[in-house]
Amino acid sequence: MSSLSERPANAVVGQEIPHESASLHVTGLALYTDDLTCRTHGVLHAHPVQAPHAHARVTRLDPTPALEVPGVVRVLTAADVPGVNDAGIKHDEPLFPSEVMFFGHSVCWVLGETLEAARLGAAAVEVDYEPLPALVTVSEAIVAGSFQGGQPTMVRGDVEAGIARAAHVFSGTFEFAGQEHFYLETHCSLAHVDEAGQIFVQCSTQHPSETQDIVAHVLGLPSHAVTVQCLRMGGGFGGKEMQPHGYAAIAALGATLTGRPVRLRLNRTQDITMSGKRHGFHAQWRVGFSDDGRLEALDATLTSDGGWSLDLSEPVLARALCHIDNAYWIPDIRVNGRIARTNKTSQTAFRGFGGPQGMLVIEDILGRCAPFLGLDPIDLRRRNFYVAGQATPYGQPVRHPERLVATWDEVIERGDVTNRRREIAAFNAAHPHTKRALAVTPVKFGISFNLTAFNQAGALVHVYKDGSVLVNHGGTEMGQGLHTKMLQVAATTLGVPLSTVRLAPTRTDKVPNTSATAASSGADLNGGAVKNACEQIRERLAVVAAGQLGVPPADVRFGDGVVRGLGRSETVAWADLVNQAYFQRVQLFAAGYYRTEGLHWDSTSFHGEPFKYFAYGAAATEVEVDGFTGAYRTRRVDIVHDVGDSLSPLVDLGQIEGGYVQGAGWLTLEDLRWDESDGPSRGRLATQAASTYKLPSLSEMPREFTVSLLERAHEEGAVYGSKAVGEPPLMLAFSVREALRQAAAAFGPPGTSVDLASPATPEAVFWAVEEARGHGEPPHMTPAVEGAPGIEPDQLAADAHRLHPRSEQAAAGVRSGR
Ligand code: MTE
Ligand code: MOS
Repeated sequence: MSSLSERPANAVVGQEIPHESASLHVTGLALYTDDLTCRTHGVLHAHPVQAPHAHARVTRLDPTPALEVPGVVRVLTAADVPGVNDAGIKHDEPLFPSEVMFFGHSVCWVLGETLEAARLGAAAVEVDYEPLPALVTVSEAIVAGSFQGGQPTMVRGDVEAGIARAAHVFSGTFEFAGQEHFYLETHCSLAHVDEAGQIFVQCSTQHPSETQDIVAHVLGLPSHAVTVQCLRMGGGFGGKEMQPHGYAAIAALGATLTGRPVRLRLNRTQDITMSGKRHGFHAQWRVGFSDDGRLEALDATLTSDGGWSLDLSEPVLARALCHIDNAYWIPDIRVNGRIARTNKTSQTAFRGFGGPQGMLVIEDILGRCAPFLGLDPIDLRRRNFYVAGQATPYGQPVRHPERLVATWDEVIERGDVTNRRREIAAFNAAHPHTKRALAVTPVKFGISFNLTAFNQAGALVHVYKDGSVLVNHGGTEMGQGLHTKMLQVAATTLGVPLSTVRLAPTRTDKVPNTSATAASSGADLNGGAVKNACEQIRERLAVVAAGQLGVPPADVRFGDGVVRGLGRSETVAWADLVNQAYFQRVQLFAAGYYRTEGLHWDSTSFHGEPFKYFAYGAAATEVEVDGFTGAYRTRRVDIVHDVGDSLSPLVDLGQIEGGYVQGAGWLTLEDLRWDESDGPSRGRLATQAASTYKLPSLSEMPREFTVSLLERAHEEGAVYGSKAVGEPPLMLAFSVREALRQAAAAFGPPGTSVDLASPATPEAVFWAVEEARGHGEPPHMTPAVEGAPGIEPDQLAADAHRLHPRSEQAAAGVRSGR
């Protein structure tokens, strides 16, 4: 066992405790950034002027009428920016644009004594636009050759040889939707300026250090003049990894120019129309299977819909490529990636960060091809799992594939899958208009930032003279329970009760140069740093204790709030030891640091070992579909998930349940609709509120929902043997989509393969049922797209002949579909 992962007896990590703010959350006492507004004197409110075009040139902008509106204090425009007029790290995101790039883009901001004054002022600003042609869908962008950023290729082996070797070859295209984060707390910043021009921004941000960088470069200040604090977030889900920066910069600019605090909080409509979302993707693929259903080769081109600027699109695409294999060994593979530039919000990080999109492609392929191969989808998936000694297409050995098998076997066992499938078959035989299905899907998800440099973290731990402990670390709390885990780590390392330790809000002047709390790595990285800081203090205290207890320092043990010598019964209370140490002039605080060892990644050759380890899981979901309407219910979900030795089992349970439900929302309910017409609202997001954008709610929760943590799952390479949990469970929701596909197919003859749109809304399921019944074409068909790798119709026809005779008709569906 490594010293990083080894857990002492009576550890506080591993205890089932509630989220550190749970009671504050449910009583409404928890402070979020905007709660500070009413506690702050003299605040000005910021309101945007949003453009009513998807693409246009700003030909005139006259703020003067706004200044006549009572209560309007100032209008912020590009002319006011003392530093760089850019909100991104790629320098492709003008903060005050002269060219509108998406419907709702803010061209300037109005500051008012009240939000209402600012709103009326914004309405009074006069702007003239010269509309320009707009690309709204990813297919339009592909046809127009509108791309941005790098175009990586991931290759292993010889894909043509693999396809040639294959007994069965299929191909298709698949375009699937993005997702709105819909965090409960919308984007919010509150900026102050002090007498020396130093800026303090309170911000709902997952990446305070980068918010600090952007604010500094917009204002033309060095980083030491800007401090960013994040109390907590009411959800981030990746949407606050890069998107808060520009809003923070507007607030900071306003504060600098007026000398007053400025608050910028988007309302829901502004947030949903201005901030980036999960990337939708277009995928074109060709796959080869051996006679017994083993993957031989995959040739694919993934095109993500990046929106108007790059933002995080490149790393999201990289993670998509790195996860297209999911849990499966694919000997010969070539995957091309590119990022479409469209006139939409700039798409960004969202839980899974491209991983879900890559994995959806292979899961869709397996789900569609299983009937053609004459295989049960459960068998097809299981048969293709990685085994020990194999590596991913980008060259990373797949460590512990037996844990994947363990989650899979256990979910089948706990979910009573074999018996239930028998019952489902009987049910379906007796019910012509209602069909059920049960699908099982695996997850393998790589943990660490692909970019090696981001895998570092810091902490600052203070022990006060009375023995109480205050922990600062570089991670942010967004509801995921990171602070809870960090309290448990500090208490474990120092050997004190949880009540001895408190956590301070995240601030860039306490811990500098932090990475985003993202990639699920918050606990791994900051946990390593907190542990390191606590160990430094503990080692100094051990010397003090050794003197008193008459043992060598190496034999001093900390636990349960007391210190004792190995094999001795005499103890010293923690607080007494701390007090003695103070009087002996021993330093009682420490800066901790952690970097993940053993990572390397070459983003050019697309090769390396970017991940410290993989998180594994498996889910079994049963659904029931109504053949008249496509309406469905989720009857039962069973999950077995690998979190290593859990740092905090209740927190992890919440992450797994929440992740699954959020994934099910993406795949089945949440339907972003953009106006694709040529009318005046082209490019406008039509689903701007919870009334039209359907989120999962209590009524969609499965009737039965059981989650188990994989046992005996100690992870050597991570803090106290744990594994990251934030994102991987989202992808367990593939099981609900595959169950819907199978239930729809059950309306057709045995061996039917159906094409299912994503999201699989009741409407989409209805069309899949119709397809299964042999009625008409599936919906949402996109024409073959130019510029994607050629997939020849002749070849498809030839491939169809290699299928079982009964699937020929359905095989044609694959060709004509997406
Ligand atoms: N859970 C809650 N409740 N709220 C969130 O915003 N974000 C998710 C996940 N779980 C999120 C969440 C995302 S996108 C990530 S990357 C991780 O939490 C980040 O936190 P961690 O690294 O501490 O797991
Ligand atoms: Mo999470 S998408 O890495 O913030």
